[in-house]
Amino acid sequence: MVDAEPMVYVVDDDQSVREGVAGLIRSAGLRTRTFASGEEFLATPRPCVPSCLVLDVNLPGLSGLDLQQELAKTPPPVPIIFLTGHGDIPMTVRAVKAGAANFLTKPVDDEALLNSIRHCIASRWGDDFRSDGTAESMVGESPAFQEILRAVRVVAPTDAAVLIQGETGTGKELVARAIHDLSSRRTRPFVMVNCAAIPATLLESELFGHEKGSFTGAIAQKIGRFEMAHQGTLFLDEIGEIPLELQPKLLRALQEQEFERLGGARTTRVDVRIVAATNRDLRQMVDEGKYRGDLYYRLHVFPLTVPPLRERREDIPLLTRYFTQRYAKKMNRAIDEIPPGTIEALMKHNWPGNIRELQHLVERSVILSPGRVLQIAVPDAAPGTSPAMRVPFVRDENPDREKILEALRLSGGIVGGAEGAAARLGLRRTTLQSRMKKLGIARQYG
Ligand SMILES: Nc1ncnc2c1ncn2[C@@H]1O[C@H](COP(=O)(O)OP(=O)(O)OP(=O)(O)O)[C@@H](O)[C@H]1O
Ligand SMILES: [Mg+2]
Repeated sequence: MVDAEPMVYVVDDDQSVREGVAGLIRSAGLRTRTFASGEEFLATPRPCVPSCLVLDVNLPGLSGLDLQQELAKTPPPVPIIFLTGHGDIPMTVRAVKAGAANFLTKPVDDEALLNSIRHCIASRWGDDFRSDGTAESMVGESPAFQEILRAVRVVAPTDAAVLIQGETGTGKELVARAIHDLSSRRTRPFVMVNCAAIPATLLESELFGHEKGSFTGAIAQKIGRFEMAHQGTLFLDEIGEIPLELQPKLLRALQEQEFERLGGARTTRVDVRIVAATNRDLRQMVDEGKYRGDLYYRLHVFPLTVPPLRERREDIPLLTRYFTQRYAKKMNRAIDEIPPGTIEALMKHNWPGNIRELQHLVERSVILSPGRVLQIAVPDAAPGTSPAMRVPFVRDENPDREKILEALRLSGGIVGGAEGAAARLGLRRTTLQSRMKKLGIARQYG
């Protein structure tokens, strides 16, 4: 039923932001409506469907914050994701206190926004929409997976720091969200920072904020992610990428829950629960002098290792059925048969890209299957048999220029997606993009 589909509202006075965000939401298969002002939004009747609101803080007329207060007066509650620019500190702080779901700084990272939207929709409405981001939507029956769930339930209610380790695509982010959702902080913000996607020079200000004029380009005061996550959870993704020189400041923030904004003298105190994730071997980095031991031990209070899919092959049939149903439903298709031979072949594959690789393969297969039977072209188990498949999906955490160029060549210059260079290298799209930027490699296609 169309009307039960979630709806994502976007309120921003800047037409280009509005159109960009709406396009992104549509490309993810979600419905959206845009509004140029808070007044316009309030004047339009909203059907009672699961929804979420992407809201600019700084609106002329009724501000984002005013709109938040207006909406709070009448149920059902609408989770709000605020988009903030520089210099919106006082408003941001007030909005956090009023219970905003999340904050993203402009220019908005596409992946972060979509994750946040899915999370809002998933966490507020019944099982149908729990398709991303909560403990219930984590599928798996293998003993190894059950062990992870058990550990999540044990650690979630404590305030202990958690370090989630595991290969790319194993579900580390899902585990991080589950920890937040099962903790007493669940109604407070879950703030995410991908340490690999932010250039090293900007990371400090992103984490801790800065005062106006603290460096060239700091045209206004900026609130950092630590402050945004006050009373909630801060998810430090790809924590292995934190530059050595920033590690002492991070350590102090973790230990003392205090820090100074860049260029500021005043100490800021926060109450933040840290969940960190990495696909690198931090222990080895410590041994090699590339990572501070004290920070490692502080993060390592409760280590959790998410096993690769090839070590829990029993989960493959279930995950395949789950993703098939999910994408078939999303694309309005009826696919109710997966040939036993297909499942067998899937179970033999090694899955270097783990669950993400399986998920993308199923998504593509649902699109390409003409009838009710899922047709999957299972990736070649023996590399080297076809020229195009000779070097695919070789995981490399720190690829050099040559490797990146090779992966781009193999993917026809495409960075994202199941066949893209990022997947081939076992990296996130945003991670590869930032590496490419650092190395001065131009992005050729999408
Ligand atoms: N147990 C699971 N059940 C259902 N979906 C899952 C499960 N684990 C992971 N996924 C899905 O697989 C994809 C990859 O998961 P996630 O982003 O959490 O991995 P990750 O370990 O953080 O990867 P990376 O290291 O590349 O950041 C996501 O789309 C996620 O929803
Ligand atoms: Mg991740």
